[in-house]
Amino acid sequence: MDEVTVGITALERTPLFAGLDREQLEDVLQVGHRVSFDAGQAIVERGDAGDAMYIILSGAAEVDVGGRFHRLERGDFFGEMAVLAGKPREATVKAVEPLEALQIPADDFQAFLAANPQVAVGMLKSLVERLREVQDRLDTWIGGVW
Ligand code: CMP
Repeated sequence: MDEVTVGITALERTPLFAGLDREQLEDVLQVGHRVSFDAGQAIVERGDAGDAMYIILSGAAEVDVGGRFHRLERGDFFGEMAVLAGKPREATVKAVEPLEALQIPADDFQAFLAANPQVAVGMLKSLVERLREVQDRLDTWIGGVW
């Protein structure tokens, strides 16, 4: 299999890109760069500027949200918050296994979403899930304090 076919096969397994045809998936591959990280390596660090977002193609990472850890796996994305908000990174994300990701530079990201509204909607759904999870955690915490 050539590089492009390998990349397309990985993207086809990514729920965020379900529904995109081959031409659109090739566009995704063109704006992105394939990047690799070793287990234990920080991919983004809390407080850093948001220069790119990442979609995991293989391997796994962990997000440290205030001492609680979320595992992210193939098909999950991260690093979108700082890019969308133009604010520093909310959390540190570390590879916990050798990880391969598609890195989409901040400069290309908004144009990419505008060209692929179904990806933007998929991303919104995941963001709402993250917000609800944080809200549930706060509710549990406040419930415990009161
Ligand atoms: P960003 O702030 O750019 O960099 C850290 C990333 O961690 C953040 O974007 C999100 O992609 C991710 N992240 C932050 N909070 C959570 C959470 N509660 N659940 C899952 N991922 C998160």
